[in-house]
Amino acid sequence: MVVGSVHSGFRAQFGRQPEGVWSAPGRVNLIGEHTDYNQGLALPIGLPLRAFVAARRRPDRTVRLWSAQTSEVVTCSLDDLAPRIVTGWSAYAVGVLWALEHHGFGVHGVDLAIDGRVPLGAGLSSSAALECAVAVAASELFALGLHGKDDARRAELAALCAFAENVFVRAPTGGMDQLASLRCQADRAMLLDIREGTVEQVPLPLADHGLAILVMDTQVEHALVDGQYASRRQACERAAATLGVDSLREFDAADLDSVLRRLPEGPIRQRVRHVVTEIDRVTRTVESLRAVDFAQVGKLFDASHESLRDDFEVSCPELDLAVQTARDSGALGARMTGGGFGGSAIALVPGHLLPDVADAVVGAFAAAGWRAPSCFGVRAGPPAGRDL
Ligand code: GLA
Repeated sequence: MVVGSVHSGFRAQFGRQPEGVWSAPGRVNLIGEHTDYNQGLALPIGLPLRAFVAARRRPDRTVRLWSAQTSEVVTCSLDDLAPRIVTGWSAYAVGVLWALEHHGFGVHGVDLAIDGRVPLGAGLSSSAALECAVAVAASELFALGLHGKDDARRAELAALCAFAENVFVRAPTGGMDQLASLRCQADRAMLLDIREGTVEQVPLPLADHGLAILVMDTQVEHALVDGQYASRRQACERAAATLGVDSLREFDAADLDSVLRRLPEGPIRQRVRHVVTEIDRVTRTVESLRAVDFAQVGKLFDASHESLRDDFEVSCPELDLAVQTARDSGALGARMTGGGFGGSAIALVPGHLLPDVADAVVGAFAAAGWRAPSCFGVRAGPPAGRDL
């Protein structure tokens, strides 16, 4: 059990018992990609894969972090923290403490042992999982009251984690991942409405209908701190400014033709078309789930992938092959998930075909001479919380 191993890792490293163990899930986004920073809709689920943190308060302002993945110990003082001072994996953890303090929450020194079980760079939000595990641990240890069952306080904690990622780590991400990790529910998809700040838990009875979600991690590492993600975000912000609105959320799919005509020809039109149609696809996916029309959900997945590939241009050959192979071998639909440029794709598959679809994808990668992808079924898991 990871909980036991992170607990004993803490004892071995720091020579004392931790005060507890907390964990937080990675996520897959079912649909609604590159919509969060456009104030739009998204539909993530929490993963059974989680980041674990064993923690104990210290009497001073020192933070020590040990990672089971790197066996590295990072030591810093809360007094010296500022964006860019800490880099690499530990910045996500330390950044949360910095963000809490920056917003007036009383934190002090802490020892942390970390065991991240969300694959890194796979587009499954390993960084948000780490941030949110540290966040719930800090909230409880320092009695900040942000981690309990009150969803509004959890929303606040998610915003603080996103602030840490944007300002401390300097990754210009949109906030979906932290909301998913802190507020997801088992066997539910979360309909996030970023502009309205609301969350609706949508039942996801896939197993009852003989269906499953297959994750296909291409093993092509994506990095959100590189320029491509930021450039897509800037393009959307520029388009909104040109169109005189706060965000692209202000447009409905029905307005699309007239909106596009107001923009110069070229990639900017494609970017806007993706965002506006993708937000519409989220609404239609939720309607289809409620109507138990999974064939339609599959078609919407397919359309989302095509839009991300052709209009938003954030896919890559490995994601396209995974998606195509999954469809050809029996998936109802498939799409890349997360930021893109590598990372993972998902497919909605009949449960009994899951091993065959996974084998077909592995075979297609081998035939292309690429590194083997990692394929596994997932079910929507519970949110960040205390384990021990
Ligand atoms: C990454 C970001 C999210 C979101 C997705 C794309 O996962 O962290 O905020 O923008 O990409 O939907």
